[in-house]
This record gives sequence, structure tokens and C-alpha cells, in this order.
Amino acid sequence: MDNETLTITDNRTQKSYTVPIFRGTVRAMDLRQIKTSPDDFGLMTYDPAFMNTASCHSAITYLDGDKGILRYRGYPIEQLAEHCTFLEVAYLLLNGELPTQDELDAWNARVMRHTMIHENVKKFMDGFHHDAHPMGILLSTVAALSTFYPAARNVHDPKVRMSQIVRLIGKMPTLAAYAYRHRLGRPYVYPDPELCYPMNMLWKKTEPKYVANPVLSRALEVLFILHADHEQNCSTSVMRAVGSSDADPYATTAAAISALWGPLHGGANEEVLRMLDEIGSKDRIPAFIEHVKDGKHKLMGFGHRVYKNYDPRARIIKQVAEEVFEVTGRNPKIDIALELEKIALNDDYFVKRKLYPNVDFYSGIIYQAMGFSPDQFTVLFGIPRTVGWLAQWNELMSDPDKKIARPRQIYTGEEARDFVPRTLRDRELVGV
Ligand code: CMC
Repeated sequence: MDNETLTITDNRTQKSYTVPIFRGTVRAMDLRQIKTSPDDFGLMTYDPAFMNTASCHSAITYLDGDKGILRYRGYPIEQLAEHCTFLEVAYLLLNGELPTQDELDAWNARVMRHTMIHENVKKFMDGFHHDAHPMGILLSTVAALSTFYPAARNVHDPKVRMSQIVRLIGKMPTLAAYAYRHRLGRPYVYPDPELCYPMNMLWKKTEPKYVANPVLSRALEVLFILHADHEQNCSTSVMRAVGSSDADPYATTAAAISALWGPLHGGANEEVLRMLDEIGSKDRIPAFIEHVKDGKHKLMGFGHRVYKNYDPRARIIKQVAEEVFEVTGRNPKIDIALELEKIALNDDYFVKRKLYPNVDFYSGIIYQAMGFSPDQFTVLFGIPRTVGWLAQWNELMSDPDKKIARPRQIYTGEEARDFVPRTLRDRELVGV
């Protein structure tokens, strides 16, 4: 409804204010008029983790956490995961519509043309220590790309933006594979444009022509589709906040990668594997659950800010896991994970708090079965999420409401006081 309003009475002044409600939201700036005196700054809202604050309008991803629904551009994630290629979904996220066959062919060719990286980028990557974490390598190298493509700074030109978007989507799997192979001491493998998006560079050893197992390729593709976007999560909010200063997309994406690395966000997949290793066997699960309930541990891969019902991505991933294990053999950690899930979902602590497995609970087990080490898992998350970040960034850059992100604070420090010379400060410290 268009004419909905909210009337607020300020009990400090007994004054009433009526503010418009649009799509279930009031504008925080409409509260600024609520003052106790003309020189009062006006009322603000306090929401340190954006628990109840919409930071943008977006037409990209829809998420209903209570019902466990996830849609990209209106299409249910289940249907996209079943029928699409990853690059087809990337096209959808960026352009709003699924491509025709001709559009898809042109798009695939365009992205694949950008999978090569400058030889100097390789040299740059060589400078990292042999055991550098691949996420550290990835985020630094993506930031370094801004020095190779200075034209990217022209962020207000939609054509320039799209060129950089395609370039970065093309380069991400190459950078991710190089980061991974650097860690393993394997030679970098040049991308093969005849192959589908990322596969050959990650898995190829010395074969002249590498053909990935189709089941594993498809599984990785499904995982990429599931991870491609997730509306205003931590890293996407960072992408929008940094992008709001008109920084170029490489610097901006590097910031988003940094946010993704954290164990509460994309880094959770690596932590889940460490947790399963620590638990070790099914008989130790009850003791571990007790530790979680005592606050000594978090159950990594459980809980979500928005999903208060089963994460639909986790449901699909469970199915993918079984298909992968048909090829790779069963990763024994899946049985610990399944048992952990069963116990947790029947325990009051988790039920009351609506804690369910999220996308990261099972993804690491699959990646490990595919031969990846845990420190590579978040990199594998970052490749597809780059598409979501860039789609959100592009949307932001053409949003008439765009302004530099600049939250307010509630100051809790000292009142104004006079400067104290250093010598006097020393005397104060020793109580003279
Ligand atoms: N294990 C144990 N208790 C938990 C967990 C967990 N994984 N998650 C939340 N809780 C408890 C939390 O202690 C709190 O309890 P209480 O009300 O007694 O204080 C209650 O549940 C509500 O949690 P919260 O911390 O207020 O929830 P949040 O929305 O701020 O945090 C979260 C969401 C994802 C950061 C959190 O659930 C968590 O840390 N999970 C583990 C890390 C993880 O798996 N992250 C991946 C998220 S999905 C991938 C992605 O980010 O894209």
C-alpha cells in the first residue's frame, strides 16, 4: 500500500510526528525531525550489526529466512541449481534475465577471453611465502589488479563498469587456482578456454589435455550457483560500502574478499572441517554439543542471521555430497556431520534459537572429497560470490539513492577537556 504511515509520539515533548511507511520500512532520516529543542541533533536509530536496517533497494536476490526461500531475480535457487550453468546464472544476476542460447554463447566466450592473467601478476604471486594462506594471496592479488587496469577508476561509465566486471569474473578462477597451486608448489596452469569455467586450472597435474570428471565438474558448478549471491550479507555490504566512495571494482572486491575470509562468514567452511577433525568420531559428539551449549565452542556451519529455517542451499548441498561420494568415495566426515546435525536439530538449545545447518556445514566436506585442502575452501566460495558482489556493486553505481556510506555513532567518550602537556601527564601518572 502506498499511503501507509506511522505516527510517533515523543514522550519527552508530547509532540506527534507522522512518517511514511514504504514497503514495511520507515526512512531513518524521517526521524531526524524529532527533536527536544531547535539545537537538538534529532532522533537517530542504533543498529550496530544492521539487524533491522535496510541499506539499499535491490532487485537481485530475494531471501525469506523464515520460509527458507532463496531466489535470484525471481527464480528459485533449486531450479537454477538443477538446470543452469554457473555462467548462465552469472548472466542472470548481472542482467536480470536468463540468456538466450546466442546470448549465452557470446557471454561464455566473452568471459573465457578474460581468464588469462598478465605475466606480471604471476610474478607478483610468486613473491608470497610458500605457506601463505590462499585467501591472503587472492585478496592481495585482486587489489593489485587495479594497478593493471587504471581505466577501471571510471566507475560512472556503465560500459567501463561492465568491461571490468567481465574481466574480473574471467580472472577469478585463474587467480584462485594460482593461489592454490602456489601453496602446493605446483606449476601454474594456463586457463583452457575450451573448457568450462574453472575446472582445469584447479585439478590439472601434468596431463597435456585435462578432462575433469563430469560429476565433479557439475557438482562444483552447482556449488558455485548456490554461492553466487546472498543479498546484503557481510561481504556484500562491504562491497557496497567501499564502492559507495567510488573506489574501483578491484579495490572494492578485495575488501569484500577480506570480509568473506572471516570465520563467521565464508571462512566458516574451513572452520567446519577443523571442528569435525577435532570431534574425530561420532561418540564424541554429545560432549562437543555440551561444550557448545556451555559457550566454549560455536557449532561452525550452524546458524544464520537471516535463515531461521533450514538453509535451502544446505539441502541441495547434502544431495550433491552423495553424488560426489559416488565418484570419490565417502568422506568419513559426512557421517560425523550428519550425526551432529541430527543431535543438534533435536536439542532444545538449537531448536529454541532456530539454529540450522547453513551452506558451509556441508560444502567443505565436498570440497575435501574433491581433493581440496581446507584453506582453499573459502577461495572456492569467493570465485562465484564475486559475481554477486559485482552485480550488487553495478546496481549501487546506478542507484539514484547512492551516497557515500557513512554511519553515525553514539559518542561515549570524554567530554571536552583542555590539552595537558606531556611533562604534566607524566606527573599525573605517578600521582604527583
Ligand atoms: N553455535 C552455537 N550457538 C550459536 C551459533 C552457533 N553456530 N550461532 C548462534 N548461536 C547462538 C548465539 O550464541 C545466541 O545465543 P544467545 O541468544 O543465548 O546469546 C543465539 O544463537 C543467536 O545468535 P547470534 O550470534 O545473535 O546470531 P547472529 O545472527 O548474530 O549470527 C552467525 C549469525 C552466522 C554469525 C552465527 O550463527 C554463527 O556464528 N554461526 C557459526 C559461523 C557460521 O557458520 N557462519 C556461516 C554463516 S553462512 C555463510 C555465509 O556467511 O555466507
